[in-house]
Amino acid sequence: MADWVKVATVEDCPPGEFRALAAGRERIVLCNVDGDFHALQDRCSHEDLPLSNGDLEGTEFLCIHHGARFDVCTGRALCLPALRPVSVYDVEIRDGDVYVRAG
Ligand code: FES
Repeated sequence: MADWVKVATVEDCPPGEFRALAAGRERIVLCNVDGDFHALQDRCSHEDLPLSNGDLEGTEFLCIHHGARFDVCTGRALCLPALRPVSVYDVEIRDGDVYVRAG
């Protein structure tokens, strides 16, 4: 069972921005979409390169390496060359801190 891990404060990641962070043993990309936080595994499903080299565009995360896009809410691959989703993690806000459930 994965544990909840504090990864940041709400102020660390303003709306429209993202941060590459550690959550336990996982590397994650924490995204703030209009005040809603989402966490993706920091590894593209296309060639296992870091997603965090790319950019957050609305509710989509662009992998800069070959142009794949992922839905930050679900992890679903939205275009080629990625065919598989990336993992997403549960996020909770507690007293201004951001917690992610990751193993
Ligand atoms: S490694 Fe992300 S699109 Fe190729």
